[in-house]
Amino acid sequence: RRLAVLVSGRGSNLQALLDAIAQQRLDAEIVGVFSDKADAHALQRVAAPLRWSADPKAFASRAGFDAELADAVQAVRPDWVVCAGYMRILGASFVARFEGRLLNIHPSLLPRYRGLHTHARALEAGDTEHGASVHFVVPELDAGTVIAQAPIPVLPGDTPETLAARLLPREHALLVAAVGLAASGRLAERGGQAFCDAQ
Ligand code: GRF
Repeated sequence: RRLAVLVSGRGSNLQALLDAIAQQRLDAEIVGVFSDKADAHALQRVAAPLRWSADPKAFASRAGFDAELADAVQAVRPDWVVCAGYMRILGASFVARFEGRLLNIHPSLLPRYRGLHTHARALEAGDTEHGASVHFVVPELDAGTVIAQAPIPVLPGDTPETLAARLLPREHALLVAAVGLAASGRLAERGGQAFCDAQ
């Protein structure tokens, strides 16, 4: 299965996919890594031919950047497009081109805490449980069908930083498992629910 991965920063989730592929825990190939930041460390985790980046500020509109990004992603003929620490909102035109095979990992137990600053918001709410979700991407932010989630406890004295640090390895395991399920063709979506059509 051909994976295109969208990144914006450190790329630890991308690295989790790369490691799983290298260790034969994930039957897939990363055919392109795409970023809105030319200096994203994530881009350095793959060979130069796989890297693509463009500066959104060089485009008159979000739709203009998204169209360029979509063309670049389409060019590598991905079976799945995975947002892994991608920090820009994908417009409806981009989503429309890949909907149904466009995934995102989000650091909260959706539907709680769509959007940013999820760890701080969970702490402010006094939640005793937090976690991450892998979901299908739809035009509405962080609102697509959830495929799988990884819960962690919130511990006394937690800060957004300690919570994020405890969650990150769980995100990595969750992303590999969810992408593996999707990439194997055993994942179906019906009425807002994700089903594993395990044979
Ligand atoms: C991760 O917590 C991810 O859930 C969020 O961005 C963070 C950075 O991820 N979307 P990465 O290290 O760049 O993969």
